[in-house]
Amino acid sequence: MPVIVTIMHELDVEIPETPAGRYRIHIGRSILDTVWAALEAEYPKLKKFIVTDADVVAAGHLRRLLGDVPVPAHIIDPPGEGSKHIGTVIAIVDAMEKAFLGRDTLIVALGGGTVGDIAGFAAAIFKRGVNVVQIPTTTVAQADSSVGGKTGVDSAISKNAYGVFWQPAAVYIDVAALATLDDRQYRAGLVESVKHALIADAKYFDYLETHMPAILARDGAALEHIALKNCRIKAAVVEEDPTEKNRRRILNFGHTIGHAVESASGFQLLHGEAVAIGIVAAEYIAQKMDMAAPQRLARIENLLSSLSMPLKIPRGLQKAALIDIIKRDKKAVNQWPRFVLLEAIGRAYCRDGQWAHDVSPQIVDETLDRLYA
Ligand SMILES: NC(=O)c1ccc[n+]([C@@H]2O[C@H](COP(=O)([O-])OP(=O)(O)OC[C@H]3O[C@@H](n4cnc5c(N)ncnc54)[C@H](O)[C@@H]3O)[C@@H](O)[C@H]2O)c1
Ligand SMILES: [Zn+2]
Repeated sequence: MPVIVTIMHELDVEIPETPAGRYRIHIGRSILDTVWAALEAEYPKLKKFIVTDADVVAAGHLRRLLGDVPVPAHIIDPPGEGSKHIGTVIAIVDAMEKAFLGRDTLIVALGGGTVGDIAGFAAAIFKRGVNVVQIPTTTVAQADSSVGGKTGVDSAISKNAYGVFWQPAAVYIDVAALATLDDRQYRAGLVESVKHALIADAKYFDYLETHMPAILARDGAALEHIALKNCRIKAAVVEEDPTEKNRRRILNFGHTIGHAVESASGFQLLHGEAVAIGIVAAEYIAQKMDMAAPQRLARIENLLSSLSMPLKIPRGLQKAALIDIIKRDKKAVNQWPRFVLLEAIGRAYCRDGQWAHDVSPQIVDETLDRLYA
């Protein structure tokens, strides 16, 4: 039986009301070939339109989802971040209009975070908003992007420049779909699971430590367990703070310096690899601020190393460039961001109701020095 997580959403007045105030995340092994029948049963009146990408199709997942059922689709090609721009969204809504689709449409997003972010954004703007169902197929998408309702695309200048919050009507996580994912992508995406454990659940961190061989072997039971943990943690945080006014910021743990490293590397480092460095950076900062015993860092570094993640900034990246990017962080106030830090493994630090904290430029500078290999 698939595990079912049901989450309630109380959306702020600022957010466009979605047709889905409450949605279900279905988690299971090899459930993909049952999802289409489930969607037809759940949404008999809605016309379906699929958004996916060429690699996901080549890996056989579209065929497993649909069998021989003919359904109009937009297949993003080339796959990946380079296609995450407004032109792709326009191509999708144009294709939907040409297929005579209207407000009674359900967009089915099958793929990684790129597909999910693009398809969710297209759903939010098509005819002022239609339903979207997310079927994530990467470790990033299953742990992170398919839940929480952030959608959008990049501009020529910055990542996720255009976007809206648009909650899915449902999420179907088939952990067996990860079997075909490239090893580097697979491992890097698991860093979001480490992040969830660090900010919210010490027992989950223990589980990741003890079950890493099974997770790396893509064992179904282990993957179901971590999918469930990730969704419960993310759902709880997002439910409390859907538009990231405060506590949702803890999901940015490791991301401030992580984003800077990712961007300065010209995206040579994968997001998860850069966030691993960012997590180590946050721990260095916590040590400088007398908030963390050294054993804590050792445990975190060991777990990240077991995922083959880098723990140091590659030599070629200039410190000045990193600091420049840190100053431009989306959440920066007066050109300096606040940092999410840990109080303990499994608990983000909160002081006076605030989850993001002031850290002096000097401490960040010293942290960066220590982070060079
Ligand atoms: N909305 C959010 O909250 C959120 C959170 C995290 C990341 N993101 C976004 O997600 C994007 C990254 O997502 P991603 O890491 O999943 O990358 P991706 O979607 O680009 O997928 C990476 C590659 O793997 C391929 N692929 C996907 N599933 C596969 C499978 N099962 N087998 C074989 N190949 C497969 C894709 O076709 C692509 O070539 C970024 O744009 C990021 O901004 C969004
Ligand atoms: Zn991330």
